[in-house]
Amino acid sequence: MTGTQAGSGSGFAAPRGMRDFYPEDMLPRERIFGAWRAAARLYGFVPYDACVIETLDLLKRKAGEEIVEQIYAFTDKSGRSLALRPEMTPTLARMIAARQSSLALPLKWFAIAQCFRYERMSKGRRREHYQWNLDVVGEPSVGAELEVVAAAAHALRALGFADADFKVHFSSRALLADVMTRLDVPPERHAAAFLALDKRDKIGEDATRAMLGEAGLGAAASAALLGLFGGAALDDVAGFLRGDSDALAGLREFAGLGAAYGLGDALRFDLSVVRGLAYYTGIVFEAYDAARRFRAIFGGGRYDNLLGELGGQPATGVGLGFGDVVVAEIMAERPAGASAPAPAGTAIGYMEPDQRKAAMRLAARIRQSGEPADLALRPEKARAFFSRANRGCFARAAYVGPDDVAAGAVRVKDLSKGTESSERIEAG
Ligand code: HAM
Repeated sequence: MTGTQAGSGSGFAAPRGMRDFYPEDMLPRERIFGAWRAAARLYGFVPYDACVIETLDLLKRKAGEEIVEQIYAFTDKSGRSLALRPEMTPTLARMIAARQSSLALPLKWFAIAQCFRYERMSKGRRREHYQWNLDVVGEPSVGAELEVVAAAAHALRALGFADADFKVHFSSRALLADVMTRLDVPPERHAAAFLALDKRDKIGEDATRAMLGEAGLGAAASAALLGLFGGAALDDVAGFLRGDSDALAGLREFAGLGAAYGLGDALRFDLSVVRGLAYYTGIVFEAYDAARRFRAIFGGGRYDNLLGELGGQPATGVGLGFGDVVVAEIMAERPAGASAPAPAGTAIGYMEPDQRKAAMRLAARIRQSGEPADLALRPEKARAFFSRANRGCFARAAYVGPDDVAAGAVRVKDLSKGTESSERIEAG
C-alpha cells in the first residue's frame, strides 16, 4: 500500500480512509504511476483529466439513488448536489457526450484519477484511491477489449510481475444473460440476478441463492447457474446452451486473439466474473494475483449503452480501472529494497557566505546540463555537509571552501565509489 495511513491516534492523522503521501511514500507511488503512463503511451492512449467533483445527478443517472450511500456527496453553498467522484467512467462519458460531434471515434483515452468511495475499510479498500483508467470509445470489435487488457498487463510486467504472477479472469454479461434466458429468467430480471451474483463473495452462497430467488430464479435454476460458476470452460457453457451464442463466439475470439497478443497464459475464462457496476453490457474482466490472496488488481469491461443512456449519441465503450492500492500491497510483499531509488544528482555545500556565489554558479551549471543539484541553503561545516550528503539520496558531493574559490576548482566526490574528480568554479 502506498501512502501513510490515517488512524495513528495523534491529532495529526489524515481523515479515516485517506492517505498522506510523505516523500518516502511518493517513491512507490511514482513507480506505479510511471508504469501506468508509460504503458498507456506505448499502447497509443492519450491523456485526459477532469475535476474531482462531479454532479450527483450524473452519478445517480445510471447507478440509482443507492449510490448516495456509497459516495462522498454534499450540497455546495448554492444548493447544488455534488459528489467527489467514485470512479471516472460517468465523467468520461459526460466529456465525450459534450463533444461527440467533433471527436473522431474510436478514441483511446487514459487518466490517473483520484477517486473517493465511502467504503467499509478492508484490505485493498480505502476511501480514496488513485485509479488508472484506460478506455476505448467507439470500437465495437473485440480489439478494444484486447487493447486495454494488453496495456494493463504490460504495466504489471513493468512493475515486476511475471506472467505466472497474475490472471485476468474474463466472462461476458451477454453470455450470462444467454445462460439466464436458457434458465427461463426473463430479461427484466437479469439486472437483479447480476447484482446477486456479483455480491456472492461478500454475502456467501446462501444469501446469494436467496437474492437469486427474489430475482425470480427457482432453486433448480440457481443451482444450475452456480454450478457453472465453479470453473466451467467455454465448451461447458456451449454444452449448456446447446451451441455457441454470439456472446460465446465473442469470448472465443477474445481468448484466441489474446493468445496472439501474448496474453494467452494470463487469460482465464471464469463465468463468475459479473462486475458490480450496472453499465457493463458485454465482456467483463478482473485481474487477480495468481494465488488470489488479494482483491482485484484491475477490472473493467464493455459498456455499449452508457453514452446513449446518459443522453449522448449512442457509442460503444470498453475500459478498465486499475487502482494503486492492491498492486502496491502485492508489491510491498516483495523483498525490501526493490523499490528504493538509485542515488542521483550532486549535493553542493559551502563553508562561508563568501563561497555562496561560486557554489550557486556550480549548481546552475550542473542543472543547465540536465542533472539534479541540491544546493545548501546556508553555509555549513564540512562535517555537517558530508553527513547530510551521505544519507543515500545523492550520487556526488561538492563542498566549496575559500581555498577552492582561490584555486578556481572544487573536488567532486563520487559517494558510492569514493573517487574524486575536479570541477571548475568561478569566484563570486
Ligand atoms: P471498479 O472495479 O469499481 O471499476 O474499480 C477498478 C479498480 O479500482 C479495482 O479493481 C481496484 O483496483 C480499484 N479500486 C476500486 N475501489 C477501490 C477502493 N475503495 N480502494 C482501493 N482501490 C479501489 C471501475 O471503477 C470502473 N469505472 C472501471 C472502468 C473504466 N470500466 C470501464 N472503464
